[in-house]
Amino acid sequence: MRVVFVGPPGAGKGTQSKLLVDYLAIPHLSTGELLREVIRSGTAVGRTVGPIMAEGKLVPDELVLGVFRERLGRGDCGEGCLLDGVPRTIRQAEAIDEIFAERGEAVDIAIELSVPDAELVRRLNGRGNEPESPRPDDRPEKIPLRLKVYQDQTKPLVDYYQKHGVLRKIDGIGTTEEVFGRIQGAIEAMRSQAGRVTR
Ligand code: AP5
Ligand code: MG
Repeated sequence: MRVVFVGPPGAGKGTQSKLLVDYLAIPHLSTGELLREVIRSGTAVGRTVGPIMAEGKLVPDELVLGVFRERLGRGDCGEGCLLDGVPRTIRQAEAIDEIFAERGEAVDIAIELSVPDAELVRRLNGRGNEPESPRPDDRPEKIPLRLKVYQDQTKPLVDYYQKHGVLRKIDGIGTTEEVFGRIQGAIEAMRSQAGRVTR
């Protein structure tokens, strides 16, 4: 099964991804994590990407798609994968559909994790104030731009996947377990739809 998580910063995509990849036994593909690895590698690409991510802006589509293709090509996604934080633009969504189509695959379900802005700010500020591993983009002054970038560039994906008939909207408020229960319900409902390939 190929699952896409769509949701603003702080919605809980990463938190829920960890549970869902265990449940579905598929790899977790987070472009945020992959790009942070690129930065840590200290390459020229990493030096380009670092300031963009620190500001809370989106990394250029073609660079992200290159990272995505490379990850998908590692050979462990035959049974599916969970895309966390990608696609983030319509251009990325179309390209990813094409990449999957070349493999005879498609996105089976796009889960929109919905959380009000005030709660997103509360969660991200909470993490931004932790001394051990603050991400530069979690600093309080960066959060408004990240939320705006989501509204302007990523939220249109909700309509995109709705039109493709794969969107499921999930309330992201509640405990981690409560939210995961809703996601499991949506996955199982999708699986039981007649004629759909499930893994
Ligand atoms: P990325 O790493 O994807 O970050 P993000 O989506 O902006 O934000 P988070 O990862 O913080 O949110 P999340 O939804 O995963 O929430 P989490 O589970 O961590 O991207 C970072 C940057 O990389 C982008 O800004 C961009 O520059 C670049 N990038 C990445 N992909 C890209 C792409 N495709 N194209 C272009 N650029 C790209 O939870 C957040 C907090 O809330 C945690 O503290 C958690 O403990 C807490 N929490 C989780 N669930 C709950 C709950 N139910 N109740 C209360 N608290 C909760
Ligand atoms: Mg995340």
